[in-house]
Amino acid sequence: MKIGVVGTGYVGLVTGTCFADSGNTVTCLDIDAEKIARLRRGEVPIYEPGLEELVERNAAAGRLRFTTDTSAAIRDAEVVFLAVGTPPAADGSADLSALWKVVDGIAPHLRPDAIVVTKSTVPVGTCAGIEKRLEARTGLRCRVASNPEFLKEGAAIEDFQKPDRVVVGVRTADVGEILRGLYLPFLRTENPFLVMSPESSEMTKYVANALLATKISFINEVANLCEKIEADIDDVRRGIGHDSRIGFAFLFPGAGYGGSCFPKDVQALAAMARSQGVQPRILAAVHETNLAQKQVLGEKVAAHFAGRLAGKRIAVWGLAFKPRTDDVRDAPSIDLIDRLLAEQAEVTAHDPEAMPNVRALYGDRIRFAPTALEALDGAECLVIVTEWGDYRRPDFDEMARRMRNPVIFDGRNLYQPAEMRSRGFSYFAIGKAAVRP
Ligand SMILES: NC(=O)c1ccc[n+]([C@@H]2O[C@H](COP(=O)([O-])OP(=O)(O)OC[C@H]3O[C@@H](n4cnc5c(N)ncnc54)[C@H](O)[C@@H]3O)[C@@H](O)[C@H]2O)c1
Repeated sequence: MKIGVVGTGYVGLVTGTCFADSGNTVTCLDIDAEKIARLRRGEVPIYEPGLEELVERNAAAGRLRFTTDTSAAIRDAEVVFLAVGTPPAADGSADLSALWKVVDGIAPHLRPDAIVVTKSTVPVGTCAGIEKRLEARTGLRCRVASNPEFLKEGAAIEDFQKPDRVVVGVRTADVGEILRGLYLPFLRTENPFLVMSPESSEMTKYVANALLATKISFINEVANLCEKIEADIDDVRRGIGHDSRIGFAFLFPGAGYGGSCFPKDVQALAAMARSQGVQPRILAAVHETNLAQKQVLGEKVAAHFAGRLAGKRIAVWGLAFKPRTDDVRDAPSIDLIDRLLAEQAEVTAHDPEAMPNVRALYGDRIRFAPTALEALDGAECLVIVTEWGDYRRPDFDEMARRMRNPVIFDGRNLYQPAEMRSRGFSYFAIGKAAVRP
């Protein structure tokens, strides 16, 4: 099939590349001319495991093209995926301005039989709004579908090519069948292709993310309590997880959730509820709990040094909002660094992939170390924010040699407290009693 993808970010680029890889001809459109120029030179502007090789292969085969020219991307496309950002507006609702701009921009170029599909996460009613808007612009009744994306950054290719499920929201069965055909190469292990109304499909995406965020805020809240009452959250987690009604997934305590999806989607669903006169009590609590959790590491560090952080050298491991991505949008590391800088600490940070994105935010206000160990030189303490594999089994003796004080604040519970004590570290994890040598 001939496919147009509008918005060549994390979702659009992965979507376009994977559809090209299954034999379709895909043109990816973006307004960011520099991004498109880099892609045309074979450079992938984001870090996503496996993506570069796939882009290269499909571009070389002539199945994957990149453009800033709307007509070139849209005029032949049988299916047009919209994958632009839908960031939060000031009131928490989804800001659809980029999406409406795109709808207006593509309208004059669409084939009369084209199917327009929203892959962006959009509030319920957006598909219906696009149908109306396209009809007003073109005089035609365009076919519009919803197809929310469930990929996880860091495992995006795997998730796209082997999805747990594909959800589409359509008005007519024929559109569902065309989309099923497109996804068939990715459904060979019989994972379900679920067809529903656009409204249910739009809602499904928000509910999925909000429930995952709820699990995280829940476990973080009880972890904070565990810490005060000498219970160990990891023991409690094991104690509850073997109950088949509960399970283990997404119940790891930490430094709060970040990224471009959970924070904004929880707020957007809450805004949607309020606009319908439904009080989003749980969603509001999930969001607030998370905002507070993102402060926990900074508070622990400040408490340890009795608020005297000025001039103290503090090492930070992990800047991306989660491992295997370079994405730092809404990352807990940003809250921590802001706090440390506000208290005039000296921050030296390390991340395997995300340092350029954080440098773009802070410039030379913080230092970046080429290796994790070098970040520790002369540090008064280490704060671990992201659970990269690289940090899981470090050389503790070398760490202690490099640091001024062997003190670790671990926002991801990577190590065993008893082992840390025996190695001479003070160790502060989430939801566990602090240990000191
Ligand atoms: N990132 C994820 O893990 C993820 C997962 C599932 C769903 N989503 C949803 O997918 C959507 C996109 O997210 P993302 O992370 O890929 O965003 P992104 O910011 O990485 O990419 C959006 C792209 O759209 C481009 N763009 C903006 N306006 C445009 C226009 N008028 N014409 C053409 N291109 C334009 C931007 O330049 C950018 O490259 C959001 O709604 C998000 O909630 C994201």
